[in-house]
Amino acid sequence: MTLSSSNGSLNFFCFVLFMILLIGSSSAQLSENFYAKKCPKLFNAVNSVVHSAVAKEPRMGGSLLRLHFHDCFVNGCDGSVLLDDTSSSKGEKTAPPNNNSLRGFEVIDAIKSKVESVCPGVVSCADIVAIAARDSVANLGGPIWKVKLGRRDSKTASFNDASSGVIPPPFSTLSNLINRFKAQGLTTKDMVALSGAHTIGKARCIVYKDHIYNDTDINSLFAKSRQRNCPRTSGTIKDNNVAVLDFKTPNHFDNVYYKNLVNKKGLLHSDQVLFNGGSTDSLVKAYSNNPKAFEYDFVTAIIKMGNIKPLTGSKGEIRKQCRRAN
Ligand code: HEM
Ligand SMILES: *[C@@H]1O[C@H](CO)[C@@H](O)[C@H](O)[C@H]1NC(C)=O
Ligand SMILES: *[C@@H]1O[C@H](CO)[C@@H](O)[C@H](O)[C@H]1NC(C)=O
Repeated sequence: MTLSSSNGSLNFFCFVLFMILLIGSSSAQLSENFYAKKCPKLFNAVNSVVHSAVAKEPRMGGSLLRLHFHDCFVNGCDGSVLLDDTSSSKGEKTAPPNNNSLRGFEVIDAIKSKVESVCPGVVSCADIVAIAARDSVANLGGPIWKVKLGRRDSKTASFNDASSGVIPPPFSTLSNLINRFKAQGLTTKDMVALSGAHTIGKARCIVYKDHIYNDTDINSLFAKSRQRNCPRTSGTIKDNNVAVLDFKTPNHFDNVYYKNLVNKKGLLHSDQVLFNGGSTDSLVKAYSNNPKAFEYDFVTAIIKMGNIKPLTGSKGEIRKQCRRAN
């Protein structure tokens, strides 16, 4: 009698322990159906805003995709990139990789308010950015993937961390690109596939100027054509002139970016180093010939990227507005 009752409480204790472990481990992981019950209208709400923003301005698809990258590479995918500066802390928006460069914050705000109207206080800004990136690619004809969810939002952002070189600059060498991605747990293959995001969107003269005037790994006619809109002399307003990253199909998410690299028509120095006699040449060549291989590897890599150090469980918060902590 005494024995069986103490057995019973031991069993109960084990059960409770098991449940704690189960809940603990499942909340530390992202999942595809995280909002299935809590916010069934989520995907429709996000896509309706992304769809109209991209229809109005195709470049916006690129801008939203890049937001997810810049969010994830600075202390994980935690929505920190969206926070405005406050009187006490300078955020990531004006850090060198982002200042006068990152776009799409108003679209994220519009998505967030639509999502708040259908399920208030439930969906994080970090998850909204991840879904908007996926929908941007889909709306521009690229692959569709099941986005993993359950990230929570940071309460702070760091200007210094965003400025520290974790986001590689466009004058990077190949080995710097490889190392920067490796530091985030991403392979060289992930890096080459994710660079295929430059099949959409635009860049400013200031970031590709050195490549079109000083580098030799560039088709000379292509260099001349880009120079027309981007004068060598710096410090002029023309430094903000933009050119498309994929000069052939800039509004279509395809593998033409890699074909351009094979033809020495990459816009950024950091694009062309992927095909310049180094270890990644063969992969660039493969993607240029095989759009399905590119799509498959891009999807694998962006899901991995979306998994960088998410805040889960009770860490962080669900922001009410994406630009400020609650
Ligand atoms: C491999 C290292 C990378 C470097 C060095 C790099 C660098 C850059 C630079 C310099 C620009 C133009 C910024 C400006 O003109 O202000 C740009 C634009 C862009 N980047 Fe990257 N990038 C990299 C990887 C990625 C990744 C991983 C993604 C997303 C998965 C991405 C998506 C984009 C997009 C879509 C644009 C165009 C944005 C727009 O038009 O608003 N990039 N990138
Ligand atoms: C960001 O850009 C603006 C406008 O060009 C400039 O005035 C400001 O100093 C830059 N901020 C930082 C932190 O570099
Ligand atoms: C190219 O290289 C020259 C010589 O090193 C340098 O002065 C110049 O600033 C570089 N950039 C451009 C855009 O010409």
